[in-house]
Amino acid sequence: MISRGEGIHVYDEAGKQYIEGLSGLWSVGVGFSEPRLVEAAHKQMQALPYYHSFAHKAHEPSIRLAEKLVEMTPEGLDRVFFTSSGSEANDTVVKMVWFMNNALGRPEKKKFLARTKGYHGITVASGSLTGLPYNHMHFDLPAIPVMHLTCPHHYRFGQEDESEADFTARLLKEAEEVIEREGPETIAAFIGEPLMAAGGVMPPPEGYWPGIEALCRKHDILLVSDEVICGFGRLGSSFGCVHYGFTPDIMVTSKQLTSSYMPLAAIVFSKKVYDAIADNTARIGTFGHGFTASGHPVATAVGLENLHIIEERDLIGNAARMGARMQDGLRAYADHPLVGEVRGAGLIAGLELVADKATKRPFDPVGRVGLMAFETGHEEGLICRNVGDTLALCPPMIVTETDVDEIVARMGRILDRTAERLAREG
Ligand SMILES: Cc1ncc(COP(=O)(O)O)c(C=O)c1O
Repeated sequence: MISRGEGIHVYDEAGKQYIEGLSGLWSVGVGFSEPRLVEAAHKQMQALPYYHSFAHKAHEPSIRLAEKLVEMTPEGLDRVFFTSSGSEANDTVVKMVWFMNNALGRPEKKKFLARTKGYHGITVASGSLTGLPYNHMHFDLPAIPVMHLTCPHHYRFGQEDESEADFTARLLKEAEEVIEREGPETIAAFIGEPLMAAGGVMPPPEGYWPGIEALCRKHDILLVSDEVICGFGRLGSSFGCVHYGFTPDIMVTSKQLTSSYMPLAAIVFSKKVYDAIADNTARIGTFGHGFTASGHPVATAVGLENLHIIEERDLIGNAARMGARMQDGLRAYADHPLVGEVRGAGLIAGLELVADKATKRPFDPVGRVGLMAFETGHEEGLICRNVGDTLALCPPMIVTETDVDEIVARMGRILDRTAERLAREG
């Protein structure tokens, strides 16, 4: 039971302090006790605690935040739609893209391309885009037309002796083959996380994103960058697409948008997509989609203040500097007997634990040793997340050098103690 938070720390009911090494769920960028966000919420609660965006109504906080998002995101992304969660946002993307293609008179162009181990949420459409078995099994998902391509993680999905460049080339060939097999006229969009986070922290191989972007342009397929975790500086660049050098047609943001102090997500998209929808509603009927809480005034007021803080304190620069320090520190554990791979970018890192370093053989069953390490982390006062046997870190973007060194040191103790426990328990 977690009862309070301060800076990068949270405290349980007994008063024990933990470094929140995952910022909650990859989210609380400005830390757990930012008074300016409390004040922004309080002020907005007093002025206008709720209003909606239906029937030609609007309110100032959502417009100001939309303007800020257009200013911060790469050129060409200049329309905004708000939801309250990343899952709702991705469901909305699916509906926008389908509506757009119906409006453009190409009703067969509806399929999505996604990746195995990608995470895009949990609702019916976003859960279908997600590529994780437990999110599909027994839920009758995928329930929308989606094809999951090979996970772009060289360590696990590269073939023996396949270089990273060859792996990228194989993935791009696979994507093009699927597009050609299905027919580009049936494929609406490609969706991906710039760095796959929730599925186990997997940065893309070199050249992957520019290659995917080129394929999308060639075959008139919309490119959707799911920046729910990577957005607003996590990787040490403004956005994941900037970090990896591609320009999406649609970007999905959440979490870091309000540092998760309020539930909010924003889809930022091109005028081309907007116009295809808006220009045609008079002809084919209204875009009948929206939520009671879309653009909620308190959530958007908090979001705007949060983005101001990220800019004023140069938290993106800090994430780049502290991220490099964290990655360097953690890479020292690459030689540890339990560690198969240390990976990540900026302030997101993953350490994959394996039974055999040389052959990359995973533990059987996967997840048991990861859970042991996760539990040991609590004893050491470091909350991380075990995705199977990968230990994921994504600390608040306000971390200092001392904080980073402490996280790295605690992670070292977690690895040693887990190895000792494994040896003891056979
Ligand atoms: C990349 C990505 N997209 C979408 C989601 C879904 O967001 P939510 O949990 O707010 O529905 C997540 C959640 O972790 C995510 O990491």
